[in-house]
Amino acid sequence: MNVRPARISDAEAICPLVNYYAERGRMLHRSLESVYDSLREFYVAQDDDGSIVGCVAVDIFWADLAEIKSLAVAREHRRGGLGTQLVAAAIEDAQRLGVKRLFTLTYEQEFFGRQGFKVIDRQKLPDKVWRECVACPKGEACDETAMIITLDGHR
Ligand SMILES: CC(C)(COP(=O)(O)OP(=O)(O)OC[C@H]1O[C@@H](n2cnc3c(N)ncnc32)[C@H](O)[C@@H]1OP(=O)(O)O)[C@@H](O)C(=O)NCCC(=O)NCCS
Repeated sequence: MNVRPARISDAEAICPLVNYYAERGRMLHRSLESVYDSLREFYVAQDDDGSIVGCVAVDIFWADLAEIKSLAVAREHRRGGLGTQLVAAAIEDAQRLGVKRLFTLTYEQEFFGRQGFKVIDRQKLPDKVWRECVACPKGEACDETAMIITLDGHR
């Protein structure tokens, strides 16, 4: 299994990975256009046979803040350490960019807790963070947990 920055040829595989979970209310839907737009933000996990079986993106918000998003591991590959590897790649990328704080909005509190993320009051995140919520069917009824990791001195 190889975790690497995404290539253009990965976009068509990223979409169904994310949208499988989006259809089950676990994350936001991504159009193929939005994946191409933000392809440089993505890392993918590639199986030995060349299939894309996981993805993650780091979206920069402001000088000191970025979001880890669209984290998905194909159902049959879950619980094999891939999610951990993808989050590690996202953290490394964020550190390379000089990001100080990396947050996520998630239902996977236990998983992100194991990766060093801490729960924070979502109201403490800047308003800009909620710009994508207009596209979410849950709207005001959002029940995701906000979690954050400070990267200074991390690793
Ligand atoms: C969350 C997700 C990315 C985790 O990926 P994964 O490859 O299954 O995770 P890992 O195998 O690296 O798990 C790391 C550890 O967390 C545990 N873990 C994984 N998912 C867990 C869960 N839902 N609840 C509790 N523990 C979990 C694993 O058992 C493992 O423990 P270990 O280190 O003691 O072995 C994956 O389950 C997924 O794609 N979920 C659906 C989409 C989603 O909700 N994404 C997050 C959006 S923010």
